Amino acid sequence: MVYSTIRLERRNSGVATIFFNRPEKHNAMSPTVHKEMRDCLASLAEDEQLRVLVITGAGESFSAGMDLKKYFLEQRSSPVEMDKSRRNSREWINLLRTMSKVTIAAVNGWCVGAALRVIGACDIVFAGDNAKFVASEINFGVFPGGGVTKTLVELLGWRNAVYLTLTGEPIDAKRAAEIGLITKSVARGNLYKEVYALANKLKNHEPFSVRLAKDVLRHVKPLDDDTAWEYEIAKTEELTYLQRNEWTDVALKKFRNNEFKPAFESYKTKKRKTMV
Ligand code: COA
Repeated sequence: MVYSTIRLERRNSGVATIFFNRPEKHNAMSPTVHKEMRDCLASLAEDEQLRVLVITGAGESFSAGMDLKKYFLEQRSSPVEMDKSRRNSREWINLLRTMSKVTIAAVNGWCVGAALRVIGACDIVFAGDNAKFVASEINFGVFPGGGVTKTLVELLGWRNAVYLTLTGEPIDAKRAAEIGLITKSVARGNLYKEVYALANKLKNHEPFSVRLAKDVLRHVKPLDDDTAWEYEIAKTEELTYLQRNEWTDVALKKFRNNEFKPAFESYKTKKRKTMV
């Protein structure tokens, strides 16, 4: 499929990258971006070969958030169009948030407003040390919407969530990592090298274990201890069924045979003569 505002690149069978592709507009998310992201993510969610999805921006920004002209100003007088765009944006963010594959945001520059929701929906976020993060909405007389307030209170402590929302001040990648908004700040020149090294490693994990790990982490959040414990047991049984006992019959047997050490390697990637 040909897209006009995003670009999908297949790196190898297990890893794909979506680029926001409006570099001349700092990759602001127009109504077309939302529609294309929805279509693209819906098809990637069904892709059985895909293991890791990277999201980044073409050019020098990750994304300047919602397109303030095309999304807000131009659609203001057209409630039906506005409603369509809202639904599209919500749908693709949900597809991203619940995706069974590992999702990594590679933040290569500005990450503003609604783009914070995008990184909040990803599992892992690496940012170049040139990146800047800002909830800019208060600076144009509104508060962050599109799921951004929820992202901030969930990822950050209360003090930092309130501070970023009320000040509208940018923070750099080092600070973003310190407060838990992102996973890691890396030298800008090494951003993609580090992201793809991680992607290529994670693509080898047993896919059902990845899918259910993500599922369980998401669902235990609001549960009490006892319910979370029971939920984990049920999901472990589901996993065992789906992967036909691979973790016990293959992985743990390899450990018993002294063929790999789970604390620092995967049974899938350990290259020993004795392993298939
Ligand atoms: N929506 C629509 N257009 C945007 C945009 C946005 N969110 N962010 C940048 N652009 C456009 C600019 O209007 C400009 O378009 P033009 O060339 O047609 O005039 C182009 O992108 C380049 O941006 P410019 O402002 O000249 O670049 P800059 O490097 O000086 O500043 C930003 C970059 C991102 C700091 C600045 O554009 C900005 O503050 N953007 C608004 C971001 C925002 O508040 N987003 C929140 C949305 S929820």
